[in-house]
Amino acid sequence: MKKFPLNFLWGAATSAHQVEGQNIHNDWWLAEQNLALKEASGSACRHYELYAQDFAIAKELGHNCHRFSIEWSRIEPQEGEFDASQIEHYRKVIFELKSRGIEPVVTLHHFTNPAWFSQKGGWTKSNLRKYFLRFVDKIVKEFAAQVKFWITINEPLIYSSHSYLLGVWPPKECSLFKTAKVTFNMAGAHIKAYRIIHKIYQEKSLEKPMVSIAANLQAFEICQPTLKNKLALYLRHKLYNLYFIEKLLRKKSLDFIGINYYGRNLADVRSWKIRSLLLDTCSYNHHPLRKNSLGWDIYPQGLCKLLMSLKRYNLPIMITENGICTEDDDLRWDYIREHLEQIHQAMERGVEVLGYIYWSLIDNFEWDKGFSPRFGLVQVDYQNQKRTIRESAKKLARVCQSGEI
Ligand code: BGC
Repeated sequence: MKKFPLNFLWGAATSAHQVEGQNIHNDWWLAEQNLALKEASGSACRHYELYAQDFAIAKELGHNCHRFSIEWSRIEPQEGEFDASQIEHYRKVIFELKSRGIEPVVTLHHFTNPAWFSQKGGWTKSNLRKYFLRFVDKIVKEFAAQVKFWITINEPLIYSSHSYLLGVWPPKECSLFKTAKVTFNMAGAHIKAYRIIHKIYQEKSLEKPMVSIAANLQAFEICQPTLKNKLALYLRHKLYNLYFIEKLLRKKSLDFIGINYYGRNLADVRSWKIRSLLLDTCSYNHHPLRKNSLGWDIYPQGLCKLLMSLKRYNLPIMITENGICTEDDDLRWDYIREHLEQIHQAMERGVEVLGYIYWSLIDNFEWDKGFSPRFGLVQVDYQNQKRTIRESAKKLARVCQSGEI
């Protein structure tokens, strides 16, 4: 039996555009209407209306925290025009969580931007960061008394690479230069947002908040121990896993480290070109592992290794996302259990972990992949919006309630 601390946070996550529905003022919605994507988010899970029902389920599942995002394009649908009714909406969302004893973990940017912001150039322009910071200032002033945990930006490197390098997300560009600019601008925005958030708590004489990003971390492994692969391993871990975190640490702008972890990246580099060193993976299924329904390698032991590699920063860590899309719910439970065991092992070896947030509470809109990947602890029937709790969710509930696995 493995025991977790009494105050450990147990919960699940969502993001606004993936679950709320009708986010008509953001850049994803615009791209969906122009048929540039596989599926449109449409009404998604209608979580915008059904949030209280969904939180009742989270409570039933023993969760004591919940991560969600506040949709900037709802708050500021047109430049400089703030919609007070949407602020009231999120006030109710936070109230529904807190009244159930569920700690909110609030994300301020989860991949979507107001359409007007994107049309001006979005994150490629450093002089536009002020708009995001104005939004942050407004929201944090509204909710500081109710919220302790803030995630400023979700997976900045995934956002910059998918939108500006791989060209799969809006605005679908392929420019290394813009990718670097967006990444740089997001780091700068986080550092400023961090200071703004802390200042607000200080001015309001509130206890210090806990502010971080949600960094996407992968377990990099190599197919064969060649020189090229070893170099790739070093570069990828440094660049993809540590670079952003270390940049923010140098500016003392993290109170904890939020990490999203899904699985393994198996490097098998075909040439010395930088592109190969950074991107080539083994395409022959050497060293096969169990996979999720999108074909991603399941690799629980990578999580313990990563946690150990973050130990030297001396900050608490929160698993802000970990999850699997699958039609096989037994596999979902194995995935959760094995990752929890790895987290526990790292904790025994001295890593401070604040909590575990599964992705996702309910099935949802998986960006360019549409609705087919099923990540939820709770199944959503998109015909009638019926929620059905999966067996894996019930098994996880027993862990959340007992604090033991
Ligand atoms: C993102 C989520 C996404 C999940 C599964 C993370 O990269 O934060 O928005 O749904 O992974 O792909």
